[in-house]
Amino acid sequence: MITFLDFLRHLMETFQCRSTVNGYITFMFLITVSLGSACEAPSSPLCYRRNAKADIYICEWSFNTNASNVMFKFCFNDSTSEIKCENIIENPCQFIEELLTVGDKVDIWVEAHVGNSITCTSPRRSGILQDTVKYETPSNISVVWLKNNLSLSWPAAEENPALVEVWFQQYEHPTESWKNIITNTINKASMYKVIIENVLRHSSYQVKIRHRSTQARNPLWSNWSPVIIVPAALEQKPEVKSTTRLLNGTREVKLTWKGMPPAAALGGVMYSLNDTQTSNRCPCRMRRHDTHTNNYTINVSYSAVNITIIAKNAAGLSPPSIIQIPASPPANLKICDKTLLEMKRLKGTCLEFYELRDADLKPENVMTLTAKSKVKDKKQLQKNMKDYIRYLYFEHICDGGKPQTVKMCLFYKKEGVATRGPRDFRASDETDTSVHLSWKAIAYEHQRGFITHYKLCRVKISSQDEPKKCFNISTSVTKHHLENLTPGSKYNISLAGVTGAGEGLSALAIINTQPEKPANVWMSFGLLFIFFFLSTMCTIILKRIRAKIFPPVPTPVIIHFPSCPQVRQEVKRKEEVHEFTLHQLLSEKMTVSEEAIVPKGEQDYMTDDDVENERSDSEGSVDECVGPISTEKALKKQKITDLGQVNNELAMLIYRNGLVFDAKTDSS
Ligand SMILES: *[C@@H]1O[C@H](CO)[C@@H](O)[C@H](O)[C@H]1NC(C)=O
Ligand SMILES: *[C@@H]1O[C@H](CO)[C@@H](O)[C@H](O)[C@H]1NC(C)=O
Ligand SMILES: *[C@@H]1O[C@H](CO)[C@@H](O)[C@H](O)[C@H]1NC(C)=O
Ligand SMILES: *[C@@H]1O[C@H](CO)[C@@H](O)[C@H](O)[C@H]1NC(C)=O
Ligand SMILES: *[C@@H]1O[C@H](CO)[C@@H](O)[C@H](O)[C@H]1NC(C)=O
Ligand SMILES: *[C@@H]1O[C@H](CO)[C@@H](O)[C@H](O)[C@H]1NC(C)=O
Repeated sequence: MITFLDFLRHLMETFQCRSTVNGYITFMFLITVSLGSACEAPSSPLCYRRNAKADIYICEWSFNTNASNVMFKFCFNDSTSEIKCENIIENPCQFIEELLTVGDKVDIWVEAHVGNSITCTSPRRSGILQDTVKYETPSNISVVWLKNNLSLSWPAAEENPALVEVWFQQYEHPTESWKNIITNTINKASMYKVIIENVLRHSSYQVKIRHRSTQARNPLWSNWSPVIIVPAALEQKPEVKSTTRLLNGTREVKLTWKGMPPAAALGGVMYSLNDTQTSNRCPCRMRRHDTHTNNYTINVSYSAVNITIIAKNAAGLSPPSIIQIPASPPANLKICDKTLLEMKRLKGTCLEFYELRDADLKPENVMTLTAKSKVKDKKQLQKNMKDYIRYLYFEHICDGGKPQTVKMCLFYKKEGVATRGPRDFRASDETDTSVHLSWKAIAYEHQRGFITHYKLCRVKISSQDEPKKCFNISTSVTKHHLENLTPGSKYNISLAGVTGAGEGLSALAIINTQPEKPANVWMSFGLLFIFFFLSTMCTIILKRIRAKIFPPVPTPVIIHFPSCPQVRQEVKRKEEVHEFTLHQLLSEKMTVSEEAIVPKGEQDYMTDDDVENERSDSEGSVDECVGPISTEKALKKQKITDLGQVNNELAMLIYRNGLVFDAKTDSS
């Protein structure tokens, strides 16, 4: 037994064959247990190297037996025809170059010893051992989608390109036959690469490959790689929704997103999150945020942050989904203390300075002082900071791995005066003593400092006696009612923003107040007077014209008997004396006139009353009756008397029914 063990030891030292303690025991078992059955010959052995530089040769053969106690003898004869045999425990077996004749043509075979007695010998194979190269099985194959091509790459076996055979099939259609291509690899950075063209990127595939040397005289195909599953390309960026919660200086951003399509999710999807705050180490250090789930919560400071989410599968990355979370300033941002930049920085703080070019707090140009920054950096930062530009200052700390903003304020390295006045400065609704003014804030880029208030000034143009008057107006108002102006004057009104550096450029407006109100009253009075005057004149002229066209009309004689009843009675008493004479005269004359003027049919118009009136007139003494009527009567009487005196011509006015007839009668 001891000699046998010695033999074994010798065996192990001679051959570099893979042998384990297990093999050892098996071997001992093989020796002791003997099967008396016959055996089939093994195949002739195949010996190869892994690449053209290797000095280890691997030999393998096939041997079918149901016996477990088999020992092999590997034999070869070289040019000297001397046979050399080595006992082997394992198949395949490795030899170091020195044990074999590798450069010359040799015959090789194996003898299988089953039990103690039976020996089966393989056919001989002849060739030059070093010509044969068989690459390792391709492993660690990575796949990447390039548009509609699929790129495969794996560690190269040699510097030289290899020939590769690729078999592939759509994973969703496993019943379809496999497609294959044979092509040369591209060598790059000790990797082999091959591109499968014109495959469908929205589909998943299964792929297997094998490769072989293009340089060796007798190249052997490597074993097939295991089948690898290639998921479809991730064409969509993750659809992310975010909600932000403010937590005392920290913001908790909850992100949720939709899963990827099944073909792309094959083999699993990993979501990789990245935020600009940790990648800048401000204030906390970089931490990987990777997850297989569809949600993630991330803590960020109050400063603006971009969170990038990328889905990854075995065949590549999705386009990034970028969530932009703007800065969350407090409701009323304070103005920083003047000493801000002189102050010593606390350890571990991270400072940020946003250059604010417009009113929204967009980080146009951000300067950062992280915990790692040196004094030199701070000086550089101070130097880079511009005058007249507003900065938003942040102070963050990393509190137990969570970023926290402890201070936020606005400041200018140096304030200047505003380079423009308020916009749209307008005057409206001018009255005689007041005007309404309105404006909009000074454009952000022209402020160049914190506007503390507006200065509104007014000065009367072309009047030296009235001095310029100015008022302070709060920045929160955008209109003003300017009062106590002089009526009918021209004013020059200016409005300027005032910063720490002083008064800036003004917006100007020239206004004209309306003339004084009393003047108006006088004017209307004047107009009224003119109107009255004109209308009076018109009336007079009209009256004149009328008088010319229509001479004055005698008033009809109406006798009111009751006006003088006593007189009448007295008259009645005296009547008898004069009645006769008067009556005769009147009737004589009237007959003449009546017949001459009045048309026959209208004679009735001379009513009995009239006649009676006349009769009564003639009957009564008119002279004795008091009043205008009696005067008229007297006149009439006179006329009638005159008429009687005229010889040939009779001119007479007859009044009847309110009409006046100017009648001329020729007395024939
Ligand atoms: C293959 O990948 C495994 C695990 O990913 C790694 O340990 C091994 O080193 C890789 N092999 C090569 C040759 O790159
Ligand atoms: C994919 O294959 C096509 C067809 O041969 C080729 O023209 C194209 O350049 C390839 N595209 C990429 C991205 O490799
Ligand atoms: C908020 O933070 C400040 C300063 O870090 C701390 O003093 C205060 O107690 C915190 N408040 C809450 C409700 O956490
Ligand atoms: C976020 O992304 C936008 C667009 O790419 C960029 O303008 C902005 O500066 C980024 N913000 C931060 C805080 O990096
Ligand atoms: C306006 O404000 C300035 C600065 O605050 C002050 O010096 C000035 O007296 C104020 N003028 C008026 C009229 O209130
Ligand atoms: C109005 O005032 C401004 C400044 O006070 C001055 O520059 C401008 O010439 C004035 N305009 C007139 C018409 O007086």
